[in-house]
Amino acid sequence: VGSEGTLGVITAATLKLFPEPRSVATAWVAVAGVQQALTLLNLLRESSGDRVSSFELIPNVALALVREHIAGAKDPQVEPSDWYVLCEIASSAEENMDALLEAALGDSMDRKLVQDAAIAQSDAQRANFWKLRESVPESQRHVGASIKHDISVPASAMPEFVERGTALVASIAPEGMLVAYGHLGDGNLHFNLSKRPKFSDTAFMARREPLQRAVHDLVAQLGGSISAEHGIGRYKVGELERYAAPLELELMRGIKHTLDPNGIMNPGKVLRKV
Ligand code: LAC
Ligand code: ZN
Repeated sequence: VGSEGTLGVITAATLKLFPEPRSVATAWVAVAGVQQALTLLNLLRESSGDRVSSFELIPNVALALVREHIAGAKDPQVEPSDWYVLCEIASSAEENMDALLEAALGDSMDRKLVQDAAIAQSDAQRANFWKLRESVPESQRHVGASIKHDISVPASAMPEFVERGTALVASIAPEGMLVAYGHLGDGNLHFNLSKRPKFSDTAFMARREPLQRAVHDLVAQLGGSISAEHGIGRYKVGELERYAAPLELELMRGIKHTLDPNGIMNPGKVLRKV
């Protein structure tokens, strides 16, 4: 429920179940940019009857890091591009989702949204595409220090966010290499940096605070959130205080006090311990 354990302990949960998908089609797609990826997402939603189950944005730098550092990561064999999308459409019925995806991608190529694409021809190929995507955080750990932001903005604002965010990185933290990837379908981006080899950790990490401020200010300007998927924790308590509306914070503190008057539930997370 997003309270990060600060309001109580879950003792029981009731889950609503959905049928397991019977037909899935997965593709690794080279796109010209974030705007093209977003247009592709909308087109795919339309042509699949809103059955896009995954839509992940991956920059070429991330693919390169994974190929270099992760054992067994195979090239997706798609024309090189600055940006890729890993997308999946799924149906709970027996349906030819590959044909549907192929038609949509062909159409997107005609419209110059997509430069090249590979549809997984086997479960092994599908697993490799997912391995490439899911190994991005681990590959970042192999190259040393990183600065991370876990942000969301409305999907329609994502191209502007990436463009302006990239300019902020270039001017505030040139010691870093941008590795921005994530769940475009949810409007959630991991706007991460890895240190470039020729700089020291100290020089790089000195940029963390000013960059974080600039990135979070941009997120706020675009109507987004400074915490999308990984929560506030301890690390972003100050940031939450800065960006949340005073009334919002007051309500949060009120709820916390009502449910946990002694402040024993995950103290110090989300809200400052008073
Ligand atoms: C991911 C984790 C970092 O998307 O949320 O890979
Ligand atoms: Zn994520």
